[in-house]
Amino acid sequence: EKGGYEHFMLKEIFEQPRSILDSMRGRMIAESNHLMMAGIREFENKFANANRIIIVACGTSWHAGLVAEYLIEDLARIPVEVEYASEFRYRNPIINEKDIVIAISQSGETADTLAALELAKSKGATIFGICNVVGSSIARATDAGAYTHAGPEIGVASTKAFTAQVTVLTLISMIIGSKRGTLETTKLHELMAELENIPAKVEQALKLNDQIVRIAEQYKDATNFLYLGRGYNFPVALEGALKLKEISYIHAEGYPAAEMKHGPIALIDEMMPVVVIATKDSSYEKVVSNVQEVKARKGKIIAVVTEGDTTIPAMADHVIEIPETSEHLMPLLSVIPLQLLSYHIAVMRGCNVDQPRNLAKSVTVE
Ligand code: F6R
Repeated sequence: EKGGYEHFMLKEIFEQPRSILDSMRGRMIAESNHLMMAGIREFENKFANANRIIIVACGTSWHAGLVAEYLIEDLARIPVEVEYASEFRYRNPIINEKDIVIAISQSGETADTLAALELAKSKGATIFGICNVVGSSIARATDAGAYTHAGPEIGVASTKAFTAQVTVLTLISMIIGSKRGTLETTKLHELMAELENIPAKVEQALKLNDQIVRIAEQYKDATNFLYLGRGYNFPVALEGALKLKEISYIHAEGYPAAEMKHGPIALIDEMMPVVVIATKDSSYEKVVSNVQEVKARKGKIIAVVTEGDTTIPAMADHVIEIPETSEHLMPLLSVIPLQLLSYHIAVMRGCNVDQPRNLAKSVTVE
């Protein structure tokens, strides 16, 4: 059942070229400019005219929501708020009929996310679900939605569900952006073609596995890790840190790289591994400065860079090269080495990666 892999988590990481493809299947064909999602078709006008989109989720799904904030605001120019479901539901939030509330949930059973959604519904908002498990409670409670079609995710640490969520949210952002006219046709077609190339590029990123095993060997005994990223890679930094802490029990924090100087930089010394996602995008130059700041304090840099980069590799202790893509799609690639790194470190530490202590696959109590 693990398809020859030692753990479900590893199997699911390696399934991603396929699961990402499944999450776009029938929804997008770049060559014929076909972009359509049954789940949002009848709500397209509502989406296009929304005053605001509120995303509610927990954990890894919340990180996918953060990526969507960058995507929707950039491509569709609608203000987005991303909320922890547990905070949103108890805050007396301001919600009205012009709001669209999107719940993101792999299991579709997360108690806080379901309750947040029901609260939004009672205030008249349109509620939309992005779930992986077909027929789950959240999928049934929503006015409309889109399944991620990633297939069953058994490992407690979410991997392929995350990339499927991000893929579906990318499609939604493109659909709303083109409907609203905020995303030009040429740019849309470029993005569609690039998204279609993502499964092959994920496949390429998975070839980094052996290299990542060697990096894991060097850092498996670390007690702390810092993950830094900016822009589209900021949520990926959070996700990389969450993956590491939940399965290896190493303390890890994700930060937007520029926030480092407002506190976490005090933690950096020669014992501190710092994973920096420094791909070639609009914040690249800024990230270069952040890497210099870490190096000046003797932190150990593990850098995820775009193939062919020479600037960051000249400063980093370890370089992980991933294929080039549009910055809008980068999280789909940059998260892959971080999933592998956390997996191998956890295995080397003797942890039960598929069923980490204290965690359950679906959190049906608040
Ligand atoms: C992390 C993880 C959790 C879940 C969170 C939400 O790897 O698995 O953080 O992402 O419990 O679960 P869903 O998406 O089922 O609502």
